[in-house]
Formats: sequence, C-alpha cells, structure tokens
Amino acid sequence: MTASPRIRRDGSSRSLLDIEHLPTERITGLLKLAQSMRPAKANSLLRGKTVALLFYEPSTRTRVSFELAAKKLGATTTVVTAAESSIEKGESLVDTVRTLRAAGVDAIVIRHPASGAPHLAARNLDIPVINAGDGMHEHPSQALLDAFTILRHKKQLRGLRVAMIGDILHSRVARSNIHLLGRLGARVTLCGPVELAPDLCATLAEGVEITRHIEQAIRNADVIMMLRVQKERLAGLQLNAEDYVARYQLNAERLRLARREVLVMHPGPAILGMELTSEVEYGPQSVILEQVANGVPVRMAVLAQALK
Ligand code: NCD
Repeated sequence: MTASPRIRRDGSSRSLLDIEHLPTERITGLLKLAQSMRPAKANSLLRGKTVALLFYEPSTRTRVSFELAAKKLGATTTVVTAAESSIEKGESLVDTVRTLRAAGVDAIVIRHPASGAPHLAARNLDIPVINAGDGMHEHPSQALLDAFTILRHKKQLRGLRVAMIGDILHSRVARSNIHLLGRLGARVTLCGPVELAPDLCATLAEGVEITRHIEQAIRNADVIMMLRVQKERLAGLQLNAEDYVARYQLNAERLRLARREVLVMHPGPAILGMELTSEVEYGPQSVILEQVANGVPVRMAVLAQALK
C-alpha cells in the first residue's frame, strides 16, 4: 500500500509512545487527571469516538482496562488480535493501522512484540497511538498506573526507595518505571542475576543502583516491584529455575527484612512459586490488585488526554 496524500503523517502529538521522551508536565498532568477519574465512573467525555485495541501479544489486564476505560468514557471500542485478523495473512503493521484509520477509528492502542512498533505506527498516522507494551522497550501506561498506585499510599515519589527485582533486562515495565521514577526523584535499586540485570541497566537513569542480593535490595525499600522472568524474550538463555527461586523469590521470610509499611507490587501476570509466593502476593503489604484497579482511571486519563 502506498501512502495516501491525504494522510498527514506523524500528525498527532497526543500519542503516548514512551516515558523516556514524555515531558515531566505531561506525566504529572496525567497522574492528576487520573485522580479526577477515580472512582472510575461512567461519563460521556469521548462519546462518538472509536478506539481500536490492536494486540499482537497476549494480554489480560492491559487490554481489559483499556477497553473498560474507553467504554467508561463513552467511546466505542474494537479489538483486533493477531490470531483472528488479516495479520495472520501477513498484513504489515503499517497497512493494518492505516486500515483501522480508514475504517474511522480515532485512536489506536497497540501492543507488539517488536520494540518501536507503536512509534512506526505513529509515524504513519495522523491519530494518536498509545503504546500498550512494545517488546523489551516500554510500557508507559503501566508505569503511570504504578506511580499512581504508589502515590495512593505515599505522599510523594521524591526520595522514595524503590527496589525492582527480577528480569530487568527484558522488562518493558522496568524500563518505563526506571524512567518515570528516576525523573520524579525516587531512588531505584535493581536486583537480579547478571544475565537478567546486567550492569548496563543502571545507566538508564541517574542514580540507579544494582545489587545481586535480594536481602540488600529490600532491606530499606519503601516499594518492592517484583518482575516476571520474560520467558518469551530469553532468546536461548537457559535459566535454572530452582536457583532463581532460591536467590530471588520474594517469600514471607525475606519480606520480614523489609519495612513494615513497604508496598509489594507486581504488574502481573505473576508466576506463583517463581518470583513470589502466594502468601506474599495476597499478604497485607501487597497492592497488586490495587494496581489492576488503578489501571482503569489511569487509562481513562491517557485516552482522555489523547482524544479530548
Ligand atoms: C507486563 C507486560 O506485558 O509487559 N504485563 C502487564 O502489562 N501488566 C508484564 C509481564 O508480562 O510480565
């Protein structure tokens, strides 16, 4: 397909592509707007608008909360997944998003296994594109909802000690959070085996530290973010699960080393028995289901800012 002369490329500055290049005022503005969307009551802010949810990778929380968020704002949604669309027949990403645009959608939420896919879509469209996770790159709305969840419990992010434990290298959630939390003044400590948390990860933002010892990471933390080992992105790397559990699993005994008011977070899906035990997942310090709940008002804010 050749570019239609009527398509104004890269026309929308309302896209949410990553946290790294998002101005701080937009981050704080979105967090404030999300606050005004709570409780996530239905309204008609986006009545008449259509949002396409284009998912090339599996998703439960992100897809459901974007869909509910759009519907609560009065928008119509259409879900396109790789398995049941012309993507299966080999249609390219650019052709797919232009097709959705031609059908009349006003914004596209996209999840894709390739880093940079939402940026490519945005360069070929004049409507907002929202990144719902691109490969190993970023997951900006997840970082926003994580910050939002922390701020429901802690006065500010500045000076807060956040430990991120697990597969940092392959995690787009980690990358977006490192950028967002670093920008807003939190002190981030990364923790994991060298294969999953190489020293290079500390260069993502200023003041980021790395430790190989979970006990050290959690001892003074205000927030502990557990991350799933991204099996689908390990590219041949063999990981000894038993050894990983022995060194990096967050269990009740280890959690007792942390402050009593520490928040335990996980973006989901959690692999029980791997990165954390069910006792910790459902324990009093866990805000994991709050993260899921906060996904709706935060994504309402993201869609409202993109489309209003
Ligand atoms: C994460 C993702 O897809 O990046 N999940 C999510 O969106 N809540 C994390 C993961 O899959 O481990």
